[in-house]
Amino acid sequence: MKRRIGILTSGGDCPGLNATIRGVAKACYERFGDDVEIVGIQNGYYGLMNNMCKEMQQSDFSGILTRGGTIFGTKRTPFKMMKVVEEDNLDKVKAMKQTYKKQKLDCLLTLGGNGTHKTANLLSEEGLNVIGLPKTIDNDIWGTSVTFGFHTAVDIATDVIDRLHTTATSHNRILVVEIMGNKAGWLTLYSGIAGGADIIVIPEIPYDIDKLAQACTKRAENGKGFSILAVAEGAFDVNEAKMKKKERAKSRADAGITTASTRIAKQIEAATGCETRVCVPGHMLRGGSPSAYDRVLATKFGVRAAQLIAEDKYGFAVAMINETVSENKLIDVAGKTKFVPADDQMVQTARDIGISFGD
Ligand code: F6P
Repeated sequence: MKRRIGILTSGGDCPGLNATIRGVAKACYERFGDDVEIVGIQNGYYGLMNNMCKEMQQSDFSGILTRGGTIFGTKRTPFKMMKVVEEDNLDKVKAMKQTYKKQKLDCLLTLGGNGTHKTANLLSEEGLNVIGLPKTIDNDIWGTSVTFGFHTAVDIATDVIDRLHTTATSHNRILVVEIMGNKAGWLTLYSGIAGGADIIVIPEIPYDIDKLAQACTKRAENGKGFSILAVAEGAFDVNEAKMKKKERAKSRADAGITTASTRIAKQIEAATGCETRVCVPGHMLRGGSPSAYDRVLATKFGVRAAQLIAEDKYGFAVAMINETVSENKLIDVAGKTKFVPADDQMVQTARDIGISFGD
């Protein structure tokens, strides 16, 4: 039985996308031999809408294990716009289904985060054979303990915090490092602990600026003239926690403050009198080669996707469940976010070594 497999990567790039693509391809060629054809879909769902497809050869998947980004290119095509007809008059869902048919695909593999999984589920409900693979440095996909890209980003963010210690200690400064993660604080939590941050601020635990300042002052009183704050991009304070998202955005815009780190740094400096600096590594956290951990994880996930194809098991998202590679139904994953629970063991671990969350 011949199988023709379409693969796309959607949403923000991250380390491990190519390693996963390679894992899928290698496992498929190994399993199905000449009975498999792989079609690379360029630029995510946008490419699927616009039939931007490339017939892949086995050799195309060689030498990509260590390469960052994605060989297929990626694009953000928000789920909320999938059923909206815009200026180009394109019925997006219909166009994606047409490409699937035109390319004579037997199945579609979608590598991406929460938005990608929502659209994957939509296409599955529309009758396409879809398998999702969990990618994101945010580690916030429901139903999987880990996503590929996360551990590499933890390593990079940890290295940033390590390096900031030099200036923080030499100058007796407060350093605020802003870590990506708009909704979930996993990356900040893990890299904060690994990098020895003194304070960790995540969206799941709204902070009180006075408590953050007190934590810095207490350290100074104990002879530590510097403090390092690992702050998630999406952090907000206890007052903002009472606001709706739009209201929060407006109040920030009115105050002329753009990022969580600048907001916190200004207030901390004013409250403590200690010289404070900000560091925003931004997309560096998503750049470069995947770590050994992510290469292994990506390979395991890719192999599982090939097994699902062999079993004709579609409408699933590959996942790590109880340390075993498995899968969840796409419909169960779509539309949910895996937040850091307030009583998460890692939060408690941090608290137990004196890290403040500003609550
Ligand atoms: O979802 C991954 C992520 O890196 C988030 O942590 C971050 O908020 C967002 O993507 C940034 O997106 P973009 O690269 O589109 O600016």
